[in-house]
Amino acid sequence: MFKRSGKFAALILAAGLVPALAVAQDANPAGEKLYKSACIACHAAGVAGAPKVGDKAAWAKVTEKGMDAVMQITINGKGAMPPRGASTADDATLRAAVEYMIAQSQ
Ligand code: HEC
Repeated sequence: MFKRSGKFAALILAAGLVPALAVAQDANPAGEKLYKSACIACHAAGVAGAPKVGDKAAWAKVTEKGMDAVMQITINGKGAMPPRGASTADDATLRAAVEYMIAQSQ
């Protein structure tokens, strides 16, 4: 009986948590989608010096320049970072992907 109600409470918790997380992360779902299709290859592991998603210090250094400067590099490329991350995404979707990466790195 006790075991059973514990399980039930865990289920309620899980059901309550999932939508809350989804709302917090998905400002524009296209950003996460683009990240997972085009940017993850370099930014998940930090290939060639790419700021690694989840690395707070690396992203603090990126964002301290201001979002305009960050988007300049994202659109035009820099070093091993290809223009638009080698994607054909438009500026708004690229920005959403960058915002997603920043949100995952705080
Ligand atoms: C081929 C590997 C690669 C891919 C794919 C890639 N990046 Fe990068 N990215 C890099 C590297 C390397 C850097 C670091 C550039 C530097 O500072 O010299 C970087 C830097 C960045 C930065 C930091 C810019 C700054 O202001 O310092 C952002 C934002 C970024 N990438 C976004 C993206 C997005 C969005 C995508 C997908 C659309 C993407 N990247 C795909 C390699 C990649």
